[in-house]
Formats: sequence, structure tokens, C-alpha cells
Amino acid sequence: MDNPSPKQQIKALLEELMEEGEQYLPYKIKSSPLKNFHQPQQELDLLYQQVKNCQSCKLAATRKNLVFGEGNANANLVMVGEAPGADEDATGKPFVGRAGKLLTDIITKGMELSRDEIFICNVLKCRPPLNRDPEKDEIDACMGILQKQLEIINPKVICTLGRFSAFVLLGKGKKLGDYRGKVHFYRNIPVVVTYHPSALLRNPNLKRPTWDDVKIILRIMSGDDPNQIGYW
Ligand code: URA
Repeated sequence: MDNPSPKQQIKALLEELMEEGEQYLPYKIKSSPLKNFHQPQQELDLLYQQVKNCQSCKLAATRKNLVFGEGNANANLVMVGEAPGADEDATGKPFVGRAGKLLTDIITKGMELSRDEIFICNVLKCRPPLNRDPEKDEIDACMGILQKQLEIINPKVICTLGRFSAFVLLGKGKKLGDYRGKVHFYRNIPVVVTYHPSALLRNPNLKRPTWDDVKIILRIMSGDDPNQIGYW
């Protein structure tokens, strides 16, 4: 820049300070200093760098890969599953096994979107041995990453897959049926709870109610007021 204007100089200085700050602030407390500088992809990349060698819980000892999640940092929709399984652990990518193929069909054939347009992740980023249920200390250790991902992406709607992610984000109820059928909110972001694709593989009768949930997600994505949707 030959003769930067005062505004350009301030912008350059702020960008430099942000870069420096990001190296030192832990992801749990870092937040975007200025809305105008919100750069979701860079912020997600930085978060990944901060957590990729995470040793915060016992799953670090048994995982092959940390499965951070993948997709569009500017996504209107974030889908949240439970935890990586064997295929995800092996590849480092979420939902790539049998359940993942069904989820891909729901996204591509049902929603007419591509996986790249949305963001897909899990509550736990590392595989529990033998796919056992996540334990409280593991959730506590991992939750900050999901919270930060949601803060960065700030989607129009979150879709939880299965009881577990609903429970973690909404913190109430016990059975999936207690959550389904109404739009919830997580930190002001609408949340639609639906069945986990593994449950659909076991019980194809769940495909119909899942489709009802998908239609609500599409309505919110296309601009319908989630407060007006009520029950379905
Ligand atoms: N089940 C999940 O909850 N997440 C995955 O990534 C794969 C299977």
C-alpha cells in the first residue's frame, strides 16, 4: 500500500493485533473483537489447530484421529451427531460409515443440498472405545469445542441427530420424543431435534417422522420465523 489512508492504517493494525492475539488466547475465551472482522473459515481453522492434539480426556489415548467436523464455515445448517465411530476415527471425517451414507442421502436427496453446503460434526470429537456411550468427563472436556464451532458458524438452524446431542445442547428431557415436534433454541439459534441415522437403519418406520423434521429445517433455512412454526 503506497499511501494508506488513516482508516486503512487502523484496519491493518487491528488485523495484526488480532493475529497476534489469536496465538495467545485459548479458544474458550477468545471471541471476535469486531463483527466486521468475523472470518468463519479462518476462525474454524485456528480452532482446529488449537485442538487437533487435544489431550483433555482419556479418549486421546485410544483415538486414531480427532474428528473435528467438516463443511461450510458459513453454513446455514449445522448437524450435530454423537461421537465418531470406527470409520470416522479411521478417516478423521464425520459420518462416513453406514449411518453417514444414510445421512448423506437425507442431505442430498431429501434436502437437495450437498454436504459441502452445511457443517457436520459431533458432540465428542474422539471415538469412545467400542462405540460405548460418551461419559460425563468426556462431554465436559469436549463441549467447549462444539460451543465455539457454533459460535463461529452461527447457523440459521442446528439439527441434532439422536437423543444424545439434543440432551447436551438443550439440557432437558430424557427420551428423543420429549424433544421432537417443536423448535427449541440454543443460545438464540433454532434447534430441530431428529432421529439419529443409525436409528433409521434399525427402524425404517422412523423415516417418515424424520422427513417431517427435515421439512421444518428447510422452512427455517428458507427464512420462515422459527417462533411461528410451533408444533408439528
Ligand atoms: N455416529 C455419530 O454420531 N457420528 C458420526 O460421525 C458417525 C456415527
